[in-house]
Amino acid sequence: MGSSRPKLALLTSGGDAPGMNAALRGAARVASKLGLDVVGVVEGYTGLIAGNFMRLNLHELDEASRRGGTVLGTARSKEFQTPEGQAKAKEALAREGVTALLVIGGNGSLTGARTLDGAPLPGGPLRVAGLPASIDNDLACTSMAIGVDTAMNTIVEACDRILDTAAAHRRTFLVEVMGRDCGYLAMTAGIAAGADCVLVPEIDKTEDQIVDHVFATIERAYAHDASHHRRVLVIKAEGVKIDAVRLKERIDELSRDRLPNVDSRVTVLGHVVRGGTPSAFDRLLGARLSHAAVRALVDGQSGFMAGWEGPGSTTPASPHDPSVILTPLDEVLAQTEAMMRGESELARWRKRIYRETEHLLAR
Ligand code: F6P
Repeated sequence: MGSSRPKLALLTSGGDAPGMNAALRGAARVASKLGLDVVGVVEGYTGLIAGNFMRLNLHELDEASRRGGTVLGTARSKEFQTPEGQAKAKEALAREGVTALLVIGGNGSLTGARTLDGAPLPGGPLRVAGLPASIDNDLACTSMAIGVDTAMNTIVEACDRILDTAAAHRRTFLVEVMGRDCGYLAMTAGIAAGADCVLVPEIDKTEDQIVDHVFATIERAYAHDASHHRRVLVIKAEGVKIDAVRLKERIDELSRDRLPNVDSRVTVLGHVVRGGTPSAFDRLLGARLSHAAVRALVDGQSGFMAGWEGPGSTTPASPHDPSVILTPLDEVLAQTEAMMRGESELARWRKRIYRETEHLLAR
């Protein structure tokens, strides 16, 4: 096992998110200042099962913190969901002499983290912490996940470019962005970009209702001020159940008779939204969440996620950072599940505000 110092393993898992590297850098810096050895796990739970660890160099992490993706690599591991996979992961942690684990990722990644919490290892029960990282912002118990701000800025920048050409040609653009089950990214970016209409999975509509809604938005936009309104921007989250190309075809069909001078185009931003240089906010979020999480692990806490709440939150904050709250993983996962089913207070609020915004955006 080598050194008898406590050893922290860092792991990134699931979809990468800009700011993950900044979180790794923050965790490694704080941990080494506090006298811990630090090691990285290569490619998430897949690498953990294989016992694939890597040394981390603080100077390289300083450089990496300015970049998107994750220097550790990431994966979505099916094997880790099995008892056999989890047993192999525990054996690998024991062999490596790991005493604490920090998992950076989304819902699936934190579900994995919970299964390892308290695992009996030679150095004592494994201490486990999680950080929320998902551009979808689909985790409960944090107002922002790492990566959301950068993804939002990427969409807004892309839409600014699209709107230049859209207005030049008097066109409608249908822009599809990531967001499998959660429309937060589409909605917030849509508001910031000045979209005329945002389609999110939380507002359940049939295909016909979606087409009618989008076409009515287009008709109103051009009727409102024909001389000035030269473009329409529709943002659709990928989770909305109509393919962007099919939506265009159906809109074009209706336009043929009723708006013959209006043309439409589709842009699917896809993985462009997930990559790129992390914003200052995401770098700082990664640094502050990892700082509070590592300190809590050193203080003896385990089985929690460090989330972000603005000052004024009523949930008790980390003693090391008034904007960071530590919530038990069980509660995070239960609340996230309720949110995805549309049954939490936050889910109900989002749905209500999304409906209101639908009216506010339409001209
Ligand atoms: O990380 C979340 C997410 O970006 C979703 O919005 C999207 O549906 C999914 O990941 C795409 O995953 P993959 O990179 O495996 O195609």
